[in-house]
Amino acid sequence: MPKEKNKMTLGVNIDHIAVLREARKINDPDPLMALAICAQNGADQITIHLREDRRHIHDEDARKIIQNSPLPVNLECSINQEMIDIACKLQPHRVTLVPEKREEVTTEGGLDVIGQAAAISDAIEQLHDSMIPVSLFIDPTIESVTMSKEMNAEMVELHTGSYANLYAMLNSSLPYTHHSIFGLDLPRHELQVRIENAVEMLDSSAKKAKDIGLEVAAGHGLNYLNLSPILEIDEIIELNIGQSIIARSVFTGLAEAVSDMKRLCVR
Ligand code: PXP
Repeated sequence: MPKEKNKMTLGVNIDHIAVLREARKINDPDPLMALAICAQNGADQITIHLREDRRHIHDEDARKIIQNSPLPVNLECSINQEMIDIACKLQPHRVTLVPEKREEVTTEGGLDVIGQAAAISDAIEQLHDSMIPVSLFIDPTIESVTMSKEMNAEMVELHTGSYANLYAMLNSSLPYTHHSIFGLDLPRHELQVRIENAVEMLDSSAKKAKDIGLEVAAGHGLNYLNLSPILEIDEIIELNIGQSIIARSVFTGLAEAVSDMKRLCVR
């Protein structure tokens, strides 16, 4: 019997449009301009991250994007009380809680759902009181998935960064300075084994999550080349992708970059 096709939601993370704007600290390019282009070219969701240091998206961007987006908006933020208050006020379609360190270039790992359980539960409760569904950005482990359910999240987003970094180490000559295994001179077959293990962790975590009633998204470091093993995991119903789409858009325009990605998001 042919495999049943699952819907895959593509969330386009538009933070990097604001990164470019912030390089000049002016009002151009405006991330708001991306909404219609994303919607017309196959995106199903807009994702933005309001960071505590406001290094890209600002409060006013978030407000305008949530008010004007023709697509659901997934607002990523930390569990810091100021951010939760803002999220409750802005009323996005969903909040994804993410860990945040000022010194990091991007979100390098999942939430510490064990060590920070009380604070995360508290943030989830406040968001639920404001009728906002919550996703937790977690490392792909059974413990993190189980804990997310215990904390009453509706969804988990599995961090694909380890998989993506290993894939890049195997398939390009770029040094991956932000990854913990950088510096190890791993032979190709060892990288291959580690990639398989990383995919296996994503697969078993996704299955566990679906099994206990959580919806499953994935994201971080996904690009036009490394998607296929992730698409094989039927339980993952949503991908949030930023860097690779906005990087490609510099050369092709945003419309083509989004529609190229959407075309790949089929199983
Ligand atoms: N999902 C989450 C929760 C993230 O924090 C990020 C990065 O901001 C992404 C997805 C997108 O990652 P990338 O820009 O590497 O595609």
